[in-house]
Amino acid sequence: MIVAVDGPAGAGKSSVSRLVAARLQARYLDSGAMYRCVALASLEDPDHTPAELAASIQIELGSRVRIDGRDVSAAIRRAEVSARASEVATDPDVRAALVAQQRELLATGDWVAEGRDIGTVVAPHADLKIFLTGSPAERARRRGEPVNERDVRDRTRVHSPLQAAPDATVIDTTDLSLEQVVERVVELAATANGGSQDA
Ligand code: CDP
Repeated sequence: MIVAVDGPAGAGKSSVSRLVAARLQARYLDSGAMYRCVALASLEDPDHTPAELAASIQIELGSRVRIDGRDVSAAIRRAEVSARASEVATDPDVRAALVAQQRELLATGDWVAEGRDIGTVVAPHADLKIFLTGSPAERARRRGEPVNERDVRDRTRVHSPLQAAPDATVIDTTDLSLEQVVERVVELAATANGGSQDA
């Protein structure tokens, strides 16, 4: 089964998605890490456009994130890379290149995929769609940095803006613990999967 988890920065997508994937014995796709890789590559190589880089770099996801074999797990989490990621993510050619790779991954096996456009664009037929939200203050607190500028850019861009799919279940995580959110998503996944606990 495919579980799509979308939402703004600091809503808890990564922590929730990793734990839900473990509970469902599914794989975990961090689509944001791919945009971060293109952002890092573009900061390092201003002579090529983000779209050219998105089409040419080899991104490896997993316990470590690699670009063309180089471990960039720490580098892609830097604040300047976060900001640049939401800029390159406005480019439809960058999105097309990454969405194609994401769909290829999701074509086989069970996945919990997180991002901004998983339920709307990447996997519109996902078995379960979750949209995590949280108050701006709580999300900034979790992140240790303001997230508003990136949120506004993500929500207002023309191509694949951050928004809940019409059939997504919205969960406001402001006053919930991580365990409570995970429990809720696992329950919804069991129902979506015909009442069985198996992924
Ligand atoms: O973890 P956090 O929510 O801070 O960000 P992320 O998921 O790593 O994504 C970084 C940036 O990539 C976001 O601010 C979006 O601009 C972009 N992104 C996107 O456009 N579509 C996705 N499916 C995932 C990320």
